[in-house]
Amino acid sequence: MINIALPKGRLGLKVYKLFESAGYEFPGIMDNSRKLIFENAELDMRCFWVKPFDVPVYVERGTADIGAAGKDILLERSPDVYELLDLKAGKCRMAVAARNDFVDDPERTLRVATEFPNIAQKYYSGLGRDIDIISLRGSLELAPVLGLSDVIVDIVETGTTLRENNLVVLNFFADLSARLIANKSSYKFKGEKISEIMRRLKEHDKDS
Ligand code: PRP
Repeated sequence: MINIALPKGRLGLKVYKLFESAGYEFPGIMDNSRKLIFENAELDMRCFWVKPFDVPVYVERGTADIGAAGKDILLERSPDVYELLDLKAGKCRMAVAARNDFVDDPERTLRVATEFPNIAQKYYSGLGRDIDIISLRGSLELAPVLGLSDVIVDIVETGTTLRENNLVVLNFFADLSARLIANKSSYKFKGEKISEIMRRLKEHDKDS
C-alpha cells in the first residue's frame, strides 16, 4: 500500500484536485467531515490530512511513503527526503517586507518577524547581517505595523495582504510551490508505483 500525506487547508485542496485528475480518487475526502484518513482499496492507496508543517515529518519517518509539501516548509525544515516533482500548485514567493516609510539602519540589529526562522536566518547570514528573530504563528503583517519588528519574512501570493496593511516588498528571494516528496526507503522499495504516480501527476499539473 502507498501512504500519502496531504497538507490540510487551501494548498491541500489544490493538490488533492491534481491527484483526482490524475486518477487517484479517495471517496469521501471532500465531504465536510473531520475524518482524516481515506482509503482507496482498489488503488491500494491511503491518504491522510496532516498540518502542512508536519508533512515532511510523516514522510521522513516513513509513516507516509510520499507527500505534498510547500517548498517554504521544505526550506525551513530541511527534511531528509527526496524532492521528486514540482506540483506547480500554490505558486507564491518568499519576501522581505516592511512599512512603506521604513528606513534601514545597517548599523542596527534588524528585528525580523517570521514563521520561518531558519529561512530568515540563512537569508540574512548570506548578507552578513545581524538579526533578531521574532517567531510568530501568522498575521505577521501586524508586527511592523505595531512596531514589534522592522521587517517580516513571509509568503506573498497576490500581494493583497501587504497592500491592505501598508507594507511593501523590499526583496523577493525564493520561488515557492507544492512539491511531491518521498521517503528515501519507500522510493527504493516501492519505486515503480511511486514513479507511476509521479508520471501521472506530471501529466496533469497546471503547466501540462
Ligand atoms: C499567507 C501569508 C500572507 C498571505 C499572503 O497567510 O502569511 O499573510 O498568505 O497572501 P497574499 O499575498 O495573496 O495576500 P495565510 O493566509 O496562509 O495565513 P497566516 O497569516 O495564518 O499564515
